[in-house]
Amino acid sequence: MAEQSTLLSVKDLEIAFQTPAGPAKAVNKISFDIKQGEIFALVGESGCGKSSAAHTVMRLINSINAPGHRTGGSVCFKDKDLLQLSNDEMCGIRGKEISMIFQNPLDSLNPLYKAGYQVYEAIVLDKTPKIEAWQKVESLFRDVRISDPEQRIYAYPQELSGGMRQRVMIGMMLSRNPQLLIADEPTTALDVTIQAQILDLIKSLRDTMGMAVWVITHDFGIVAEIADRVGVMYAGVLVEEGDVFEIFDHPKHPYTRMLLESLPQGSKNDKRLQTIPGILPNPTIDIRGCRFEERCPFKFDKCEMEVPPMQRMKPGHYVACHLTSDRNGDSAL
Ligand SMILES: Nc1ncnc2c1ncn2[C@@H]1O[C@H](COP(=O)(O)OP(=O)(O)O)[C@@H](O)[C@H]1O
Ligand SMILES: [Mg+2]
Repeated sequence: MAEQSTLLSVKDLEIAFQTPAGPAKAVNKISFDIKQGEIFALVGESGCGKSSAAHTVMRLINSINAPGHRTGGSVCFKDKDLLQLSNDEMCGIRGKEISMIFQNPLDSLNPLYKAGYQVYEAIVLDKTPKIEAWQKVESLFRDVRISDPEQRIYAYPQELSGGMRQRVMIGMMLSRNPQLLIADEPTTALDVTIQAQILDLIKSLRDTMGMAVWVITHDFGIVAEIADRVGVMYAGVLVEEGDVFEIFDHPKHPYTRMLLESLPQGSKNDKRLQTIPGILPNPTIDIRGCRFEERCPFKFDKCEMEVPPMQRMKPGHYVACHLTSDRNGDSAL
């Protein structure tokens, strides 16, 4: 793929939730870019701050469902800092230029309205004439590979399977031709065969429509299926970032390696499934050094004392780990 320009640029983003035990730092200065037309995956264990980061980009973090707030950083979409826009300006971007499929997409459709009508409502927001809008609903149902679209547009969500409801959601999110689609755990609620079909659908829609996709997942298997580039997140920080082949072939951070080792091995599946011992650190407690230190089998003195900076391994491959420049300054990995 030719070098493409940056669409979304997240810089030093920090997010905290107020809790009875004090501020819980869900996201701690993360920075990453998403380029036009690429599929970028943010991967990490549940609770490491992935959804909080996406909700902040969509400016949905300070709501009843997510009573958090940004404590620092910026989010640039094209030339605009989204976090500085007025609510009206943000409404012009949300759903139109940036769309998001939420973590529980199967519950996101309203059971009282027919599936096609819900997509129609999204399309007429752009003042598309009614007949044209209904034609677009039918063609979108076709694009997301729903069989018998002329009938299915009149079905209620509960008459559709989980995979079909997810297809409707994807159709709705793409109805206004966004430049960025955020998909938060888009297949977690689906069984494995349907999961593969949905990932394949997202990828082929990206190929035909050219939008960028930010996929959020706890599963490196999904990263392998869909992503061009990947950022690995642990306890609110990015620990590694790179091209998907580079990360799979040459993972540097111990956490990335352990996540990859915990994948089912296909032909090598006689090997026992690995788990990563330990739990995420408490987000209300300040950590002086590396956040993975407590669970890291390779830790040494420096890890407890100093935050490892993000360092460039090769063009496009970055890692934040003291092991990559060991005690003598040489690479230990
Ligand atoms: N509404 C909330 N109130 C308090 N803490 C929250 C809330 N939502 C998320 N958090 C905390 O923020 C951290 C990150 O959560 P989240 O962004 O949902 O992670 P992920 O999407 O990676 O699973 C977790 O420690 C979680 O407990
Ligand atoms: Mg989440």
